[in-house]
Amino acid sequence: MNVHLPDTATLQQDRVVPLDLADEALRENFIAEIAEWAKHPPFYAVHGGSLQVIVSRYKDAIEVYRDRERFSVKVPKAPGFERFDKFMGVVTLAQMDGEHHDRIRRLMSPAFNPRAITALEPEIIETIDDLFDRAEATGRQFDAMGDFATYLMPRILLDLMFRLDAPQKAAFTRMSEVIPMATRIPPGGEFPQEYKDAFAHSRTVINALIDERRSNPGDDFVSVLVTTKEQGDQLTDTELYDQIFTVTASALQSTASSFAAIVYVLLKFRDQWEELKRRPELVPQAIEECLRYHGAGFLSFPRFATVDTEVGGTEIRQGMTLRISPQGACLDPEHYPDPLKVDIHRNPKDLLIFGGGPHLCLGNRLARFVLQVSLERFLRRYPDARLADPDFRPSYRGQVSETQIASLPLVLR
Ligand code: HEM
Repeated sequence: MNVHLPDTATLQQDRVVPLDLADEALRENFIAEIAEWAKHPPFYAVHGGSLQVIVSRYKDAIEVYRDRERFSVKVPKAPGFERFDKFMGVVTLAQMDGEHHDRIRRLMSPAFNPRAITALEPEIIETIDDLFDRAEATGRQFDAMGDFATYLMPRILLDLMFRLDAPQKAAFTRMSEVIPMATRIPPGGEFPQEYKDAFAHSRTVINALIDERRSNPGDDFVSVLVTTKEQGDQLTDTELYDQIFTVTASALQSTASSFAAIVYVLLKFRDQWEELKRRPELVPQAIEECLRYHGAGFLSFPRFATVDTEVGGTEIRQGMTLRISPQGACLDPEHYPDPLKVDIHRNPKDLLIFGGGPHLCLGNRLARFVLQVSLERFLRRYPDARLADPDFRPSYRGQVSETQIASLPLVLR
């Protein structure tokens, strides 16, 4: 692929915007900022020698998500693109194209069997109640992020689904903790030593786990991945490591951030919380509506143009990097009228918050199920919950463009 990037002077000037995607001010105010992006066709975000095409309107986002001929997810092997190779050579499912991607996804799909996930419901409820009990027992003010959401997916994915022991779990958790460091390394920069150490250790632990489950398979997630065969085809050891890594990296923070965002939005728009108390059967659609307004991040993984083309009238040249904003699509007034109004009756069915097209989030059913059970339990246990500070404004952390609420102090009763 030709990855020569054009001089910005040769671009449509009315679509060039000086914009630093890592700017904290952008993240702190992302809902209002991205609601503005969503009113415009794709634009060129130019900052410090880097150029990315931001795609925010719903129809443009869908077009790019679905067209894998014109837009590849595979990171070009060329100078300047090292910043997208964040995982020390691991090839995640999200960075594969075509038949390669489809084959790996097919071989992973049985591990996401909805019946197996639903069968975990009693254990998931027990885990959620245990987390609430422990947080209450401290006697401290309850932080929905620090005391609950942070522990939610590690307990569900690593304890209940992967059935890991404590040292194995510690290696997975450490690996997921260091990942945000990678998005802040400048192009061509060195990975920090603690990052390299966490990856090296997780590789040893995951490879040993693969061997263990292959010789003694159970009904856990890793055993299903290790034993799934399709017409004689199976994931190789490298593919297994890469995809166990992918699932862990994709699942933990995104689900925690989403739960904190949902609780924040419902308590901020108190009338919606009161309505949900009256109509708890609306929990699934309230989750969709809250995530439409405040997702876990505002940019998808990059796409790279394989040909000269256009989207929404914006010229895209071969080799350009495109960033879809699923959050933008959620706030597009053409698709969701009055997008900044939160209304749990809206029922936004075709949300792009889990992506779209061939790379639609593989864990979306699991994530939605965990969020649903968590919110149902929270609503039932703490109907009088409120924000400790009625004027609370979240501060965010995580990788560039992630909107992980750092802490969410609540009064529960
Ligand atoms: C609320 C929580 C979650 C959110 C908001 C979320 C969001 C997303 C998005 C937007 C994508 C598509 C990225 C793109 O195409 O650029 C994606 C892909 C993916 N997600 Fe999630 N995710 C969540 C939870 C999970 C969980 C719990 C798992 C696994 C247990 C998971 C596994 C994956 C995988 C494997 C992919 C790559 C799929 C592919 O490329 O075919 N995610 N996720």
